Amino acid sequence: MTLTPQWLDELRSRTTLSTLIGRTVKVQKAGREFKACCPFHNEKTPSFTINDEKGFYHCFGCGAHGDAIRWMTEQRGLGFMDAVKDLAAEAQMEVPAPDPRAAQRQEQRATLHDVMAAAQDWFVTQFNGIEGTQAREYLKNRGISEETIREFGFGFAPNSRGMLKEALSSHGMDLLIEGGLLIKVDDKDPYDRFRGRLMIPIRDPRGRVIAFGGRILGDGEPKYLNSPDTPLFDKGRTLYNLDKASPASRQTGRILVVEGYMDAIALAQAGFEDVVAPLGTALTEHQIERIWKMVEAPILCFDGDSAGQKAAMRGALRALPILKPAHSLNFISLPAGQDPDDLIRSEGPQAFAALVAKPQMLGDKIWQVEYDAEPLITPEAKAGLKKRVADHVRDIADPDIAQHYRQDFQERYQQVFFAKKDDRSQQFRRFGKGHYGGLFSNRPKDETKSVLVEGHDLRIARAIVGGLVRHPSQISKHFEELSTIKMADSQLQTLLSELIGVALSKETLDMQGLLTILEQTDCYNVAKGLLRADALNFTFNRKLPEDTPSETLERAHRDLAEAIKVVTARPGLEAALAEATRQVQDDLTDESFAEQQRLLKAKQEFNDRLVEMTQVDDFA
Ligand code: UTP
Ligand code: MN
Repeated sequence: MTLTPQWLDELRSRTTLSTLIGRTVKVQKAGREFKACCPFHNEKTPSFTINDEKGFYHCFGCGAHGDAIRWMTEQRGLGFMDAVKDLAAEAQMEVPAPDPRAAQRQEQRATLHDVMAAAQDWFVTQFNGIEGTQAREYLKNRGISEETIREFGFGFAPNSRGMLKEALSSHGMDLLIEGGLLIKVDDKDPYDRFRGRLMIPIRDPRGRVIAFGGRILGDGEPKYLNSPDTPLFDKGRTLYNLDKASPASRQTGRILVVEGYMDAIALAQAGFEDVVAPLGTALTEHQIERIWKMVEAPILCFDGDSAGQKAAMRGALRALPILKPAHSLNFISLPAGQDPDDLIRSEGPQAFAALVAKPQMLGDKIWQVEYDAEPLITPEAKAGLKKRVADHVRDIADPDIAQHYRQDFQERYQQVFFAKKDDRSQQFRRFGKGHYGGLFSNRPKDETKSVLVEGHDLRIARAIVGGLVRHPSQISKHFEELSTIKMADSQLQTLLSELIGVALSKETLDMQGLLTILEQTDCYNVAKGLLRADALNFTFNRKLPEDTPSETLERAHRDLAEAIKVVTARPGLEAALAEATRQVQDDLTDESFAEQQRLLKAKQEFNDRLVEMTQVDDFA
C-alpha cells in the first residue's frame, strides 16, 4: 500500500487538529491559535500550541512537535497505518488500495530472505565439511564450544570467487547481488563477496538471517568484512544478537552493549545472554531507541584504554539529545586493552560480572571524563570544566532531565571547588563513594603543598598505588608524601584516598585483608586491575611467593619508597629546572650553568633509578 504525499496532505488539510487534540486535552483559543497544557510533559501553564492553519502542534516547553498523524502515533500510540485509517475515516477519505509495486517489493523481500537462508545453510555445510577444517580449529582455539557454534550459526566461506555463485545459482544472479552475497563491478562477471572467511550470520529480531560478518582466519585486512546495506539490512538500525538478547533481557531486566561480534558471542557462552553489539560503528540513535524499548538503562561496555574511553564519551554525548524520562545509559570500563571476550578468557565470567554489578551512570561518566580532561589547577581550567559540562547539559532536549543534570553538575562543581574545608569529606564520599576515603580527607591538608601527578608520571603513580595494594604495610610509612599527591585520574585518586583511609584505621593489614575491605567500595575493580600483569613491572609490583626472603621484600619496599619520592618530588624538580634553564638563557654565569646542570643530573638520576627498578631480572 502506498500513500502519496499528495494524498497525505489532503488528509491533513481535512483534519482539524485542535478538534482532534481537544478530545484528549483541554484546549483554549488564543488569538489565531489554540493553547493547552502539554500532554507530553508535566506543566501547569500552557506552552503547547496548536495551529490549525498550518496543521501542526508545537510545545515551547519540551519541543514536542508534529501533525495530526504524529499526534495519533505519538500521543495515542497507534501504528502509522492505523493512525492514517482512523483519520481517513473521520475525514471521509478512502485509503488507497494496495499498490502493485509495493506488493512486488514485499515479494522481493520474501525471496531475499530465502536467498539469505540458503546462503546460511550453505556456509554451515562448508564449515562442517573438509573446507571448514581451519575454521573449526580457529573457533576451538578461541574457546568457542560446539553448542555455541550451532547456536550462533557459524559458517565458512571457502576461498573461491565462484563456489557460492555456483551453488546458489538457482536463485538468480540479481538476487544474489542484491543480497550482498556477490560483488558486481561494472560489466564484469559477479563474484563471491566472502572468500576464505569465518561466517557469522546477522539476524533480524525475528531470527531471520539478513546479513553476514566474515572474519578472516588469523591476521589480515580487513579483519571483518560485512554485508553491504541491502533491502533487508540497514547497518545503523540493526543490532547483532538482538533476536536472542531480547527474550533474555526480559529475564534479567538488563541489556549489555559490547563492541564486537565475538564479544557478544563469548559473553552469551559465559551466561550473559542479554548482550547486543552494533555493527562496527558507534551506537546510533536508532539503536539506542531500539534498546530503550527493552530496558531503561542499557550497560555499555568499553575498553578502559583512552580510545575506549573516548568512544564511551561519544556514546554518552550522542544520547543526550534523545534522553527521555526514565531512560538513560550506564557504562562499565574494562581493564585497559581488553575487550569482554579477553576478560572472560583471562579472568573468568565472575570478573565481568563484578564490573557489570557496578556500572557508572551517565552523569558520573560525563563528569568524570571532563574532570579528568585536564589538570584543574588554574581558575581558568576550573571554569573551563564548568563550561564544558554546561555545554553538554545544553544538548539535552528534555527540559526536566536537563534541569536535573544542570543542578547535579552545579552541585559537584560547588563541592569540588567551593566546599568549606570541613565539607571535604563530603566531596570524597561523593566522588569516591568510599568508606574510608572520608577519613583521610578530614585530615588537615595544606593545599599549596599538593603535587599534581599527570602524564608519564601517572603511569608510575599507577604502579605505586598497585605496589601499596600489594604491600599495605608500607602505606602508613608514607602518609605525608602520599597525602600531597593529587592525581589527574580520579579513579586512581579515589583508590589512593581509600588506601590511606584504611591504613589510618587499621594497625596491621595484609593484601587479602585490604582487598576484602575494598570489595565494599567502588575501588575494588581498580585495585584488582592494578594487580594484574599489565601494571608496570617494578620490583614492588610483582607477585611474590609466600616464602619470599626478607631481603627481597625489603628491596621492594625500598624501591616503593623511592618511587614515591620521585613522583612527589619530580614536579618541583621540573619547575626548578625550567626556572634554572630560563636563568641560563637570560644570564649565563658559572653559577646559573652549574645549577642547571645539577638539576639536569638529578632528573637523569631519577629516571635511571626508575628504569633500574623495572629491570631487576633475578628479583624473586
Ligand atoms: P574489534 O577489532 O574489537 O573486533 O572490532 P573483535 O570483535 O574484538 O574481534 P576479534 O576478537 O579480534 O575476533 C569490533 C567490531 O568492529 C567491527 C566488527 O563488527 C567487530 O566485531 N569491525 C572490526 C569491522 O566491521 N571490520 C573490521 O575490519 C574490524
Ligand atoms: Mn576481541
